[in-house]
Order: sequence, then C-alpha cells, then structure tokens
Amino acid sequence: MKVLITGATGMIGGELVEKFHGLGIDVNYLTTSKNKIQSKDNFQGYYWNPKEGEIDLECFEDVSIVVNLVGANVASRWTTSYKQEILDSRKESAKTLLKSLHKIDHEVEYLISASAIGIYPDSLTKLYEEDESNLNDNFIGEVVQEWEKAIDNFQELGIKIAKLRIGLVLSDQGGALEKIKQPIEFYAGAPLGSGKQWQSWIHIEDLCEMFIHCIKKQETGVFNAVAPQPVSNKELTLAVANAIGKPIFLPNVPASVLRLLLGEMATIVLSSQYVSSKKIESTGFEFSYIYIDRALQNLLQ
Ligand SMILES: NC(=O)c1ccc[n+]([C@@H]2O[C@H](COP(=O)([O-])OP(=O)(O)OC[C@H]3O[C@@H](n4cnc5c(N)ncnc54)[C@H](OP(=O)(O)O)[C@@H]3O)[C@@H](O)[C@H]2O)c1
Repeated sequence: MKVLITGATGMIGGELVEKFHGLGIDVNYLTTSKNKIQSKDNFQGYYWNPKEGEIDLECFEDVSIVVNLVGANVASRWTTSYKQEILDSRKESAKTLLKSLHKIDHEVEYLISASAIGIYPDSLTKLYEEDESNLNDNFIGEVVQEWEKAIDNFQELGIKIAKLRIGLVLSDQGGALEKIKQPIEFYAGAPLGSGKQWQSWIHIEDLCEMFIHCIKKQETGVFNAVAPQPVSNKELTLAVANAIGKPIFLPNVPASVLRLLLGEMATIVLSSQYVSSKKIESTGFEFSYIYIDRALQNLLQ
C-alpha cells in the first residue's frame, strides 16, 4: 500500500508520516516548496502549485490512499488577501487533485481529508455531533463548508471518502500548545475572554491513530476528531500552567483586547465548540488521551 499525503510537511503531516513509516507504509507527498522535496525509498516528494493547477502526476504512481492535510495556517493575521488564501489553498488543492485523477489511470480507492470543528456554530451549551445541520456562518464556518464540499466531489470518481473535523491539536511540535505555553512560562498567561468557551482538543498521537484507524477500516463519512473530554479555555490554561509548574495570577484577557490585537482572527480563540467523539468511538476507535491532564503530562513533562 502506498499513501499520498498533501500537507505532509506540516505539524500533523510530520507525525503521520512517522506513523506510516512505523507500519512499513511508503509515502509520496505533494509540496508547494521545491526545497522540501526529498527522495527516499519510503518518502518521495513531488512539487505542486494548486493555485495554478500545476501538479507532478507521478505522485499518484502505485497510490491507493490519499490523505489531504493541505491548507494555509489559520493562525496568521486575517488580511483580505490572506483570507482568500485560507480558502483557496483548500479548495484549489482539492480541485487540482480531482482534475488530475480524472485525467489519469489511477488506483486511488480512498481519500481521507482534514476538516475542522469550526464548522459548528459558537455555543457554550450545545453538544455537537456530526449530523448537526445548523452550521457556522462566520468566515471559518464558510471555509470549512466549502472545503468539505470540494472533498465530496471525489465521490464522482467512485472514491470512498472520510472527513475528520479536527479540534484543537495538542502537540509538542508547535501549533496551539506552544502559543498557550509561551506566555505562561513568562508569568503572563491568562484565560482568554470569559474563559468559559469550550476547547475540544485532541492529542496529536490520537489524531494520527484516528487517520490510520479510518484507513484500515475504510470508514466513510464525517467524524469529529476530538478527545472525549473537552475543557473550557480557563481549564486548559490552568492545566498547561500546572503541567509546567507555573502560576496563573493575571485576570482574563478581555475579549475586546483580543479583538483589537488579533482582529477578526480573535474568533479562533474566543469561539466555543463542545464536540462529541461518540461517532468515531462507535467504530471501535479507542483514545489513549481522554483527559487533558494526562495529555499535557505526556506532551510537556
Ligand atoms: N493544527 C490544528 O489544531 C488543526 C485543527 C483543525 C484543523 N486542522 C487542519 O489540518 C490540516 C493540517 O494542519 P497542520 O496543523 O498540520 O497545518 P500546518 O502545520 O500549517 O501545515 C499545513 C501544510 O499545508 C501546506 N500549505 C500551507 N499553506 C499553503 C498554501 N497556501 N497552499 C498550498 N499548501 C499550503 C504546507 O505544505 P508545503 O509547504 O509542503 O506545501 C503546510 O506544511 C490543515 O488543513 C488544518 O487546517 C488543523
């Protein structure tokens, strides 16, 4: 079995590649940066430029599974042009892949794509399951809806599809945890806004295992990729402080200050999604990290 990964050079991709290699599975990957291309027996990079619909079709050779992780990072300032890039990097890449598969004789049977829990509206009380019909109409909500639609188009080729609506990924290789930890290390950490907003997190190890579980079982449809026990922003901040042995004594950072500092992007840290992991568990998936303290202990100590 050979897997093609888009976004393999990112935080989740890097970890997933190691998992595949641990299972003896060879990986091809597509990258927008020519200097990230490596040529190894089990890890072969290919250049693409989805904005221009450009792609090296050799990337599909012997590939039966596609893992789609590509996407401009949402944690950079949301200028008008960057917002366009956040959307286009997801839509145009899916389009480029689909067009290519239409053109060639290929063996792709299954595609699993990243999606995000930002598709669910902001709520302090609602528990979100995958069949939720009330979807977020803010920028991120619209991006994720467009992204999922672009992925659904692969069905026209008879390819089986799974979409993982990923929550806040906790990793020791950067991402959100690093950003939460830094101010706490310098005694400047504090909960954000009311601190009551839900943070449906997932340990990167569980996320990667979930991709592999879905591939092995050829699961199709939408699955929330979050741990079974979400926490509030305040609980998360205190848990990180506790894990690294630092105090939190500052008052919450007011939402108005965050909006001033981060602009529209403040919605990422202020919005609340309490998300259920029941559906993936019902397929037999077992989490290694259910509680935040254990996850942080593993990542930070
Ligand atoms: N991390 C999280 O907490 C989280 C939560 C929910 C959903 N997700 C989603 O999961 C996916 C992977 O997340 P991640 O944290 O691993 O992301 P990441 O570290 O930012 O990596 C994403 C990869 O996408 C490629 N990329 C970036 N900008 C691009 C652009 N403008 N056009 C085409 N390709 C571009 C890059 O690969 P090359 O440089 O090799 O081209 C990059 O390595 C993303 O789609 C993200 O939205 C992540």
